[in-house]
Amino acid sequence: MNPLLSKLQPYPFERLRQLTSGVQPNPALRAISLGIGEPKHPTPAFIKQALTDALDGLASYPATAGEPALRESCARWMQRRYGLSIDPATQILPVNGSREALFALAQTVIDPGQHATEGGPTVVCPNPFYQIYEGAALLAGARVVFANSDPARNFAADWSSIPESTWATTQLLYVCSPGNPTGAVMPLDEWAKLFELSDRFGFVIASDECYSEIYFREGPGAAPLGGLEAAAKLGRGDFKNLIALTSLSKRSNVPGLRSGFVAGDAELIKAFLLYRTYHGSAMSPSVQRASAAAWDDEAHVVENRALYRQKFEQVTPILAEVMDVALPDASFYLWAGIPSHIGGGSDEWFAKELLAQYNVAVLPGSYLARESNGINPGAGRVRMALVAGVDECLEAAQRIRAFIQSF
Ligand SMILES: Cc1ncc(COP(=O)(O)O)c(C=O)c1O
Repeated sequence: MNPLLSKLQPYPFERLRQLTSGVQPNPALRAISLGIGEPKHPTPAFIKQALTDALDGLASYPATAGEPALRESCARWMQRRYGLSIDPATQILPVNGSREALFALAQTVIDPGQHATEGGPTVVCPNPFYQIYEGAALLAGARVVFANSDPARNFAADWSSIPESTWATTQLLYVCSPGNPTGAVMPLDEWAKLFELSDRFGFVIASDECYSEIYFREGPGAAPLGGLEAAAKLGRGDFKNLIALTSLSKRSNVPGLRSGFVAGDAELIKAFLLYRTYHGSAMSPSVQRASAAAWDDEAHVVENRALYRQKFEQVTPILAEVMDVALPDASFYLWAGIPSHIGGGSDEWFAKELLAQYNVAVLPGSYLARESNGINPGAGRVRMALVAGVDECLEAAQRIRAFIQSF
């Protein structure tokens, strides 16, 4: 067996299952889950239609690079969304969801033989973070170093806490903007700092942007800044050492389609294509056609965003009466601080008791982070995914308010 497998940590939902295995949720109330971040709005009919219309594609093996038509759709979307001119032939690759691409990218980029006397190559991650980053780094033979999020700065990761000696061994940096679970969007000055570090130390930046289309404010500048957009604004039109990962799962309510794309540095894309050819991660031709239809349409995305906006506008003020929570920049999560006078401020206690008394599932924040510099930055917080319908989310918020007010 690969000994690195033993380094993997249980997934947050597995830990939640274990935490609540002996809990009898209040049978008088129907179950509401704000736990899993899985989109629940219906898939647009035209995407399903495009998928079934393309079933003839199953008779042939797809190319790993994808069909030019799909890459062109993705490039057109980058142009509309970010004003970028991306070469569909050299700067874009379709992927089977951003999760597999986040994982595979580490396998492509990491050289496990380097920095042997300094503890091996490093992958830097925000903290809290999407657990795939950690697993990808460990299985690639790297060690993981975390930059804690700072609640006083809109949950920005404290990159300055990483010593120069660590940056010197860093080969890959994951960033997540809009962030899961914090919803925070990285501003341009933070990107400028990271590009400067990447230039100095030669590491690759993987920018996870799968929540980019779910935001709540309107008008110019409301849509989250993308990594490639930031690079272009800073005069880095070649996207050196930068790769952005995006996805249809949340944008178009198709997590089951498994479809996204990566874009950026042509050299990286070339190496990634080589890796993927051997890994066998070509996208089904039917999925490619449905994906192109989805990227080419914006009306359903506007509608989807309006549904989330409605939910967040109604739910956030109810919870803000009793918890430390505010409307995030983007994403479909609320990252809420628990009042310290209940359950000792423990996120595990809160999640367990809330389920037992009010039949609402939330995810303990500490499960989404690791202890770093003596702090688990998820401790004392819970993540709530507002993925269910507006009525269900409202009812959950009212139950949580009643739960907290009962102490
Ligand atoms: C931060 C983040 N990145 C990536 C993903 C993976 O999304 P997908 O593989 O569906 O594109 C998720 C899924 O929940 C996520 O939360």
